[in-house]
Amino acid sequence: MKVAVMGYGTVGSGVVEVIESHSDVIPKRIGGNTLEVARILDLRDFPDDSHADLFTKDFNDILNDEEIKIVAETMGGVNPAFDFTMKLLKAGKSVVSSNKELVAQKGLELLRTAEENGVNYLFEASVGGGIPIIRPLTQCLAANNIEGIAGILNGTTNFILTMMIEKGMSFNEALRIAQEKGYAEKDPTADVEGHDACRKVCILASLAFGKHVYPSQVETEGITNITLEDVSYIASADGVIKLLGQIKYLSDDRIAAFVSPAVVYNGSQLASVKDVFNAILVRGDAVGDVCFYGPGAGKLPTASAVVADVMDCAKHTQRRKFFGWGAGAEDYVVDYKTNVKMPFYVRAKADCSEVTSKFSEVKFLSRKGQPSDEVAFITDVMTQKELEAKLGDMNVINTIKVTDY
Ligand code: HSE
Repeated sequence: MKVAVMGYGTVGSGVVEVIESHSDVIPKRIGGNTLEVARILDLRDFPDDSHADLFTKDFNDILNDEEIKIVAETMGGVNPAFDFTMKLLKAGKSVVSSNKELVAQKGLELLRTAEENGVNYLFEASVGGGIPIIRPLTQCLAANNIEGIAGILNGTTNFILTMMIEKGMSFNEALRIAQEKGYAEKDPTADVEGHDACRKVCILASLAFGKHVYPSQVETEGITNITLEDVSYIASADGVIKLLGQIKYLSDDRIAAFVSPAVVYNGSQLASVKDVFNAILVRGDAVGDVCFYGPGAGKLPTASAVVADVMDCAKHTQRRKFFGWGAGAEDYVVDYKTNVKMPFYVRAKADCSEVTSKFSEVKFLSRKGQPSDEVAFITDVMTQKELEAKLGDMNVINTIKVTDY
């Protein structure tokens, strides 16, 4: 069966490599069919690549090739990936994608178009890289009401925070190493400002709760305000800082979804997730907490998930997989700041008496070299709006949510 790959970057070249290096086992797992990479679309030149005869810069070479039935879209970005994917689905080709930005923004339209044309649109690699999560969430956990999801969904930021926590490295030095290792997005803003994690939250929330959640509905804060001082205070509370995507089912068919740095205590399964690894903890009413852990970025891990989707399409040419969700709504995702209660870490230029006059229950933290006019503490459980009201005019340096996962 002929397959095309659109985008020959880190993931796309990994897809070609995995298809070729596993050509002995793949046919045994998809009913005897072989997968053959017939075309690779990329605007760049790869003069030294052994697939020179497969490259094209013209999308129509893939669209108009009747023998190509499955296309792996590993381009990233919404355009032109959306336009290409729509055309391919309408032409009766199944498409698999690692493109979380596209799925988060346009998943509903793409899934509907796939359904209308009797083909598949699969995107296991769009969340958690090589970690199986889309199928477990939608199939293995299908009997549960999902109560919440918390995930370390971005490898680059997890790597940076791990370097800060374990090696005392500065944010910028850790980011540079993450870029050298190929974890970061082309523009690292998407990683460090939380946009990449936000897109993955949208996909998980849409799958878990059945309505499209758009990035604009998910309040997102990155890790650029986290300092080694915060890391040190939180270590004294036996915790670590992680960039978490959190989704909570509230009631009356409403959810809260947000991305932010969060204090995770060391007893949590999420606390030991280090370096570029990701983990997604799903809380179901029947199963309890289940945690999916593994490599969340990188060439071969992400390609592993893309190629599995290609194989699924090859096995089910006459059948659609039931991944999908319905239309979203504006008031479906509520403001977490007034609807979700949690403790908070606060660091401020203040003294203890100012803190205790405002908060009835706090746990004070300490660090080496703590200035005499600085305090850090963990509050009781409250909403962010309540926290802001209590802090009033206190000279706050940073606040971080504390998670209950
Ligand atoms: N830049 C992303 C990350 C790649 O660091 O997790 C995988 O989505």
